[in-house]
Amino acid sequence: MPSAAPILRKAVLPVAGAGTRFLPVTKAVAKELLPVVDRPLVSYAVEEAVAAGVSEIIFITAPGKPAIQDYFSPAPALEALLAERGETHRLEVLRAAVPAGVRFSYVQQDRPLGLGHAVACARALVGEEPFAVLLPDELLRGDPPCLAAMATAWRRAGGNCVAALEVPAADVSRYGVIAPAGPANDDGLIPLAGMVEKPAPEDAPSNLMLPGRYILQPRLFHHLAAGRRGAGGEIQLTDAMAALLAEQPVFAYRFDGQRFDCGGKAGFLAANLALALERPELAAEVRQLLAGLTPAADA
Ligand code: G1P
Repeated sequence: MPSAAPILRKAVLPVAGAGTRFLPVTKAVAKELLPVVDRPLVSYAVEEAVAAGVSEIIFITAPGKPAIQDYFSPAPALEALLAERGETHRLEVLRAAVPAGVRFSYVQQDRPLGLGHAVACARALVGEEPFAVLLPDELLRGDPPCLAAMATAWRRAGGNCVAALEVPAADVSRYGVIAPAGPANDDGLIPLAGMVEKPAPEDAPSNLMLPGRYILQPRLFHHLAAGRRGAGGEIQLTDAMAALLAEQPVFAYRFDGQRFDCGGKAGFLAANLALALERPELAAEVRQLLAGLTPAADA
């Protein structure tokens, strides 16, 4: 008899970065809370995790960033005020910010030692079960959403699963890059032979980068605990996954939806524009505004 399909209940979201690329605003506001249209950037990754069936979100945060916890906590005083004023629509919007039935936990990363170190901070809360990692800077739009599609394939294939996305060969040195071991299997998953963090373009094993969505077995923590320093002198998640590959299969799910790199200003602005254009109440006005700006941009 086939064993029961594995369950994905927990997701780790690293949000400890200082957001220096967005200074000066990040002096006072966590980058993850900057708005994409009218919701904080991080809420899109939370929504994607919940759409994949996740019911516990573990934030890896840093000292001095309490506002993320505020956002995902109920706001009874504000709710009472809106109820009293009869502002039912706004009340619904407010309540929807905290998804029902989802538990939020917070762990502090006290030193910025890299993404691998950040994920390792979740070890006690994850325990001995598979878990997802989502990097909120990467805003991914797909139907089904990226993590949900990965989870469906992973439930059949088992092992570990990472998202992979094609980028121009000249860009690979900015990312983690996969080395496929062969073509995609019947579940649409590519078996991996390796992966490397921020390779020189001439050393890159492919032009398929890691856009920050992972489903991982708890054995990964063993490799993270080794604390080996990789690219940039940091403890890299990619290196720990490459070590895990010697013991367990790792598959790549090829994501071909939309990606906005909200780690940088241009990607962040693009996400704002694209998502505003999807909103019926905003699209026409934003389109008109953009048309008005274009001649000036060409001048
Ligand atoms: C991190 C990961 C890298 C991944 C990238 C996606 O890099 O280490 O593998 O491709 O996110 O944005 P960072 O952006 O932190 O340098």
